Amino acid sequence: MRIYDLIAKKRDGGTHTRAELEAIVGGYVRGDVADYQMAAWMMAVYLRGMTPGETAELTDVMAHSGEMVDLSSIPGIKVDKHSTGGVGDKTTLVIAPLVAACGVPIAKMSGRGLGHTGGTVDKMESVPGTRTALGREEFLSQVRQIGLAVIGQSEGIAVADKKMYALRDVTATVSCIPLIASSIMSKKLASGADAILLDVTTGTGAFMKTVEEGIELAKCMVEIGTRNGRRVAALITDMDTPLGHNIGNSMEVAESMDVLKGCGPADLTEVCLQLAAQMLVLADKGSAEECRALAEKALADGSGFKKCCEMFAAQGGDVRVLEDSSLFAPPQASWELRADQEGYIVANDAERIGSASVLLGAGRQKKGDALDFAAGIRMHKKRGDYVRKGDLLATFYGAPEKFAAAEQEYRRGLRYGPELPPAEKLIHALVTKDGVQRF
Ligand code: URA
Repeated sequence: MRIYDLIAKKRDGGTHTRAELEAIVGGYVRGDVADYQMAAWMMAVYLRGMTPGETAELTDVMAHSGEMVDLSSIPGIKVDKHSTGGVGDKTTLVIAPLVAACGVPIAKMSGRGLGHTGGTVDKMESVPGTRTALGREEFLSQVRQIGLAVIGQSEGIAVADKKMYALRDVTATVSCIPLIASSIMSKKLASGADAILLDVTTGTGAFMKTVEEGIELAKCMVEIGTRNGRRVAALITDMDTPLGHNIGNSMEVAESMDVLKGCGPADLTEVCLQLAAQMLVLADKGSAEECRALAEKALADGSGFKKCCEMFAAQGGDVRVLEDSSLFAPPQASWELRADQEGYIVANDAERIGSASVLLGAGRQKKGDALDFAAGIRMHKKRGDYVRKGDLLATFYGAPEKFAAAEQEYRRGLRYGPELPPAEKLIHALVTKDGVQRF
């Protein structure tokens, strides 16, 4: 099978067989297929698309390009969760403990920040002492003992995706539904859970800018999972505005703990309860209403917070900062961003705010950059709030020399208007193998 012919087949709109996909992906991982050939093939996929069956096969081939985690030694239905990325998106730190507190084992691998979006592993590492690189046996044994472990994704998972993603990043082939769906789902299939809840974010801070694109991506990923024998559901959530008020690693941990203690921001709490409820549905814990009640109970009785502390303690973290966030190492300095005009905030572009927090040191500008865990942004006013000139909009935390660039970026995403903007839905739709339910 010549790679030249396979590129030509996709260029001309053909549908690949599994053997052909194995030749392309396997050849690329082995180094027999060159970067320029893979780039040409991925551009052909970008322009010609893939059938649902072809995308599911590609995903399975990519998943099998690395280690396949076996969670069968953990009793029960193991449920994973994946967010397609956001700003101030700290839901994993809330829902993994909530769901585990309801008796569903969670063995989760998470990522680091990517571009303007944050990552759970970076946030966890802001809790002093926390280890996110556990060996396979320790990871499984922690889940067997306390029902919950969240660690960084091992290097050996979906090896093909790592190479393909890096190439897509520099060849304008990232925003392609079959390629995004196979990239995400290959890692999820390889991670071994029986069921997967996807949080497909949409809006300015997300990869998918519109709800319709989000639904398309969700349908594609649900189909891939279902064809590969997993239970999958997806919630389409809003990411035009960051979730909650805090953006930045230790600040996001603190806000997540507020949610688990029952005093978190309403938007974040609501999204977490809905995601947790859907994970419990996937684990056969009851109807959507019954599962929502279970999640609410785990919040109200403090069992979710207790489970979170157990997990951090098991992974070496200093849980005193979870009890009392004033014990986190303080930022170098703070600075107040004030409104430069009067009116309703009609837009606060989440991507700009995420980029501003990266400029403050909460994310990486290049590979390997060290993070400032205390750096970040606290939003005091968000879309829909009315402000007068000079009102406090946000507080920046970090090194003083970084404030000016972050201010410029934040202000670029701000728009004021005379009218209260229409309220945004937090959750737009639920996608399952049975169809799309819009809210
Ligand atoms: N996240 C991934 O893991 N892959 C993509 O292609 C996009 C987002």
